[in-house]
Amino acid sequence: MGAKIRLGILGGGGDSLIGVLHRIASAMYDKYQVVGGVFNPIWEENIGFAEKIGLPTNRIYKDFDTLIAEELKLPVSERMQVVSILTPNFLHFPMAKKLLENGFNVICEKPMTTTFEEAKILHATLKMAKTVFAVTYTYTGYPMVRQMRELVKEGALGKIQKVDAQYYQGWINPIIHDREKRSTTWRLNPEKSGISCCIGDIGTHAFDMLEYVSGLKIEAVLADLNYLYEDNKMDIDGTVMLRCSHNVKGLICASQIATGEENSFIVKIYGERAGLKWEQENPNFLYLMEDGKPMRVLKPGHTYNSDLSLDGTKLPPGHPEGIFDSMGNIYKGVAKAINKEPYDHGEYPTIIDGVRGMNFIEKAVESHRKGNVWVNIEEVE
Ligand SMILES: NC(=O)c1ccc[n+]([C@@H]2O[C@H](COP(=O)([O-])OP(=O)(O)OC[C@H]3O[C@@H](n4cnc5c(N)ncnc54)[C@H](O)[C@@H]3O)[C@@H](O)[C@H]2O)c1
Repeated sequence: MGAKIRLGILGGGGDSLIGVLHRIASAMYDKYQVVGGVFNPIWEENIGFAEKIGLPTNRIYKDFDTLIAEELKLPVSERMQVVSILTPNFLHFPMAKKLLENGFNVICEKPMTTTFEEAKILHATLKMAKTVFAVTYTYTGYPMVRQMRELVKEGALGKIQKVDAQYYQGWINPIIHDREKRSTTWRLNPEKSGISCCIGDIGTHAFDMLEYVSGLKIEAVLADLNYLYEDNKMDIDGTVMLRCSHNVKGLICASQIATGEENSFIVKIYGERAGLKWEQENPNFLYLMEDGKPMRVLKPGHTYNSDLSLDGTKLPPGHPEGIFDSMGNIYKGVAKAINKEPYDHGEYPTIIDGVRGMNFIEKAVESHRKGNVWVNIEEVE
């Protein structure tokens, strides 16, 4: 193996939810080394966090403009090769665009931008930059999600008849009923979050996941969203009917007011011959269901799994693979792309997935606002 890929991080400071997941995932296969970044817009917290996690502070910058300017002064052999963007949503677009324009590879949290228009601009910028761009739809990295994709691809289910994803959380319940709290969280502020909270945050995971495992394209949506309070501008719950390619119909149910739910993301694909079901809270079990037969439970690490699934499994069967492993697999795929090694298209979500995700969010909100009508998802090339 050659030298490690030099990784910079924007956001993901000690106060964040997602930072630790990316740092550990990047280290998992010994492919990356974090060399610097901007963890927090407040300097003392930024530098303090870098010191706390034992990073040299010479490449901790005060903001992302300074990061780019200073990194460009370094020889290519020392410069950051890829930068992960883990900030609130509204910063993804300006950060990613400028990074691409200056030749960096980018790993970006979802939702990729705050509007579909921004997503299309980013796509055009990437075509010019010709670097690697990944969007971290984390759950696609799980070994049994990869196995689900491969089983569907090889025809184990027969013709697909129905796709269904339910993503239920309850975390916003204590916030939404408190006027002060619901007016101060960034996730309910359209300027920081974009036009949608629930569909933008978790509905977009469900959309990407259904396309990832089924191989279908979602072509049109009809949404009914829930805001609960007049002064709340952001959906916190929604049901979206789907029309997919090959005349397949489906459903996405997403909620952040499913009181008591934690991270209940359940994905189901039903074909003529069999069905598959996967649950994020028990990610090592993939249920294979057939008419008249006992349900079978497929698990990671066994040789009956596909190469794509086994490539994302580090230990023998019986050692649970969790969300850190899932994100680690995405970082591994991105490393292959950066190092120009062969890789499978299922190894990491690309900018196309990011653009389609933004299109889904906008079309779901449009459908709701127009009185729950069918709205088409645009093709992305
Ligand atoms: N892939 C997933 O499953 C998943 C899960 C959770 C969050 N996310 C996404 O990750 C992103 C961050 O979410 P979070 O929950 O960690 O948010 P958070 O509010 O917990 O953390 C945001 C971090 O960004 C930092 N930050 C803010 N402004 C900055 C700036 N100008 N420069 C540098 N750093 C800055 C903050 O200091 C903080 O450390 C969001 O886009 C969210 O949708 C993805």
